[in-house]
Formats: sequence, structure tokens, C-alpha cells
Amino acid sequence: MARDLKNKHFITTQEWSVEELEQVFALAGELKQAKAAGRPTPLLAGRTLYMIFFDSSTRTRNSFETGMTQLGGHGIFLSPDKMQISHGENAKDTAKVLSRYGDGIAIRHCAFREGNQYLREVARHAEIPVISMQCDVYHPCQILADFMTIREHLGADTRGLKLGVAWTSAPNYVRPLSVPQSLILMMPRFGIDVTLAYPPEFRLMPEIEEQARANAEAAGARFEISNRFEDAFADADVVVPKSWGPLMTTTDVGQGLSLIEKYPDWRCDARRMALGKERMIYMHPLPADRGREVTDEVIDGPQSVVYDEAENRLHVQKALMALTM
Ligand code: CP
Repeated sequence: MARDLKNKHFITTQEWSVEELEQVFALAGELKQAKAAGRPTPLLAGRTLYMIFFDSSTRTRNSFETGMTQLGGHGIFLSPDKMQISHGENAKDTAKVLSRYGDGIAIRHCAFREGNQYLREVARHAEIPVISMQCDVYHPCQILADFMTIREHLGADTRGLKLGVAWTSAPNYVRPLSVPQSLILMMPRFGIDVTLAYPPEFRLMPEIEEQARANAEAAGARFEISNRFEDAFADADVVVPKSWGPLMTTTDVGQGLSLIEKYPDWRCDARRMALGKERMIYMHPLPADRGREVTDEVIDGPQSVVYDEAENRLHVQKALMALTM
């Protein structure tokens, strides 16, 4: 039976049951079909979403804002430097006031050891749902889109699929841990076996790796960690080669970038792609550091589904907003 998800915060998939997540995927599929057929879906007519971006974005901002338009509502882009947050207004006052005006608050705040705490504090005081647009720990909307994409390409029954999540070397900036962490948490709950590969300095938050292990065990799936890049590709159905910072080793940006430079061969190329199953799909949440993280041959090649993945952000987020707001 469908659950009433009105007002439920979405900060991590860990706080949503598999059945609740399936409700999102079911509605996302319907909304995608309606859009393709040109049928309007004014499920949030007259509603407002506040979108607070502490960090830059292409996909997240545009898919949320466009999604609200397509649902008949309005998304308002907010930047902390133009809000009273810049003068020290606290999370409680922001949450209480926006709750008096509108219907949902979405936040991107990726500062390490700050972002998730801020989202939690807003959620504690908000009377409307708070949706994570990415923090330092989780990027749950990205992983909903990833899962929808996997099902579209490999079938609805995901049990027994192998997903490789591999660190890649992208020394232009230090990326958060939230994408790989959200992948390893959610995918095993749908029966997907996960191999996570990274150089020793790039481990994820230990408590998240532990939760991923527990999720896999509860679902009868496998979760393993390797220090060999190739292990993420071997016999895989899906691979997500993606950079993140060595934040468990150092939070110094200079040292972090030097460590990223230490492993230039951790780059997805045709040789590594050949290690996977013939039907293996290549995924990346984007933006990708072309030439460093992945060769053009792979990201522009026939196994790449990165634009489907980016498109599905729109559909899963519309479903999420329609169910919670
Ligand atoms: N994947 C993703 O979140 O993209 P943006 O940073 O462009 O929003």
C-alpha cells in the first residue's frame, strides 16, 4: 500500500524504506512518460520550493527549477551571499520563516563537516519538507537518478548485478565524498553487489562504509573494498569511475590535490572498460574531468549513459517533490 510521504525530509536514502523509494521510482516513470507524451502534470500547482545553493551547480539547479515549473509550481533560486545567512542568520530562523511562506526547502551545502549538520538543523525546525541537493555526506537525488538509469538499461530486477564504484584522478579541485557514499549505501539494498575501489588515502567515512556493509548483508548482496582500480571493472554490469577528495586523510587542499596527482593512471579508458561484461554501462554524475577521469572515447562511446543519467535527475526529483510537498 502506498505510504503518505507528505512532509517527509529527504536527506539520505537511509531514512527511506525500499518500498518508499519504489514509490518515487514508480511516479518518476509515470512523469517521464507524461512528459514524453506532452501531457501536463500540475501536481504542485501554486506551490513554492526554495533552493538554497551554497555551492555551484548545473544539473541540480536546472533539474529542480525546471521540475517545479513542469509540476505547475515555482522554484526560487537562493544564494546564501544574497540572504541574511551572510550576516549570520541561523538555520532555525531561516527554516521557520521559509516554512511560513512556501512548501519545500532544498539545500546544497557540501562544506566538509558542515553541510549535513546545516541540513539537519534546518530540517529540525522546518514545518515543510527539506530535500538534500547534496551535502558533504550524501547526494541522494543523484543516486535515485542513477538507479532509474540502471533499471532502464539493464532491467527492473537488479538483484545480482555488479556495480563498480572507482575513484579517479581529477586534480582540478577536491570533490566531496557524497556520490560514492550514497551509491554504496543504496545500491546493495536493491540486491546489487558493489565493489568500491580507491587508493589507500581515499577511503570514505568509516561509518558509511560500515553502514554499506550492513545494508549489503541485510539484503543478501556483496560489498567489498579494493585498492586496485581494475577490480571495480572486472565482470561488472555498471561502472561509476568518479573522483573525490582524500578527506579522511587530509583536509588541506594543497595536500589533497597532491595526493590526487599521485595516481594519474586511475583513469577510465577503453582498456579498463574491456574488463567488464560486454553490456556494461559507464556512468558519471557529471561534471566529468575529461582526459583525467575518463577518456573521450569512453564518455562519448556506446557504453556511456551519462546524459540519460543527467536527464533522470529531472524525473526522480519531480516525483520526490510531488510526493513530499
Ligand atoms: N551531478 C550534479 O549534481 O551536477 P551539478 O553539480 O551540476 O548539480
